[in-house]
Amino acid sequence: MSVKISPSVLTADFLTLKDDIKRLEGAGTDMLHLDVMDGIFVPNISFGVPVIKSIKKHTSLPLDVHLMIDRPHRYIKQFAEVADYLGFHYEAGSDVAETLKEIRNLGCKACLTIKPCTAPQEIFEYLPLCDMVLVMSVEPGFGGQKFMPQALEKLSVLRKEITKRRLDILLEVDGGINAETAPLAVNAGADVLVAGNYIFSAENMKATVEAIKKL
Ligand code: DX5
Ligand code: ZN
Repeated sequence: MSVKISPSVLTADFLTLKDDIKRLEGAGTDMLHLDVMDGIFVPNISFGVPVIKSIKKHTSLPLDVHLMIDRPHRYIKQFAEVADYLGFHYEAGSDVAETLKEIRNLGCKACLTIKPCTAPQEIFEYLPLCDMVLVMSVEPGFGGQKFMPQALEKLSVLRKEITKRRLDILLEVDGGINAETAPLAVNAGADVLVAGNYIFSAENMKATVEAIKKL
């Protein structure tokens, strides 16, 4: 299976987003990563359900929604209507098992996300309830940050556990992915790479996506 790429639109120009999404589709990306921030769980505010609803009208790419919000269980029903993959943070103050189950019951793929400060072993017990696990390789909140190499060890630990237990879980990494860090993340076991600045600043988006997918 080739590595999947899920571009984050956080750094795109929202007034020309439709064109950017068409460019991403043409470049062969696998999903669209949508970063939802509430200004409480992270020190930044981005967008919510209405914007994602509009995006959904203009793409058939699966929507990979990354909730960076406090007590996300309060909003799962609303986001489940627009998401394909719906992820929330282990550290965000919701009952983890109940929230994962609710996401699946509402027909979405459930994704559990960990911040750089969280050890991967802490989420082992929840793995059977996950369709995807997201390892943050930057502090959540902003695009354009530097990749934290500690994420590589976490990816390896999770990959080993997923393989050992024969679970059907995608392993995603988010933050600071570029030509240099993408191969490291893939070697450590990631099968979905989120990339924002790297994709949007590429001179040739298609060639950049193709190069990553060959890793
Ligand atoms: C950070 C977000 C990321 C970010 C990725 O909180 O979750 O998805 O936008 O952007 P880059 O690839 O620029 O680090
Ligand atoms: Zn993200």
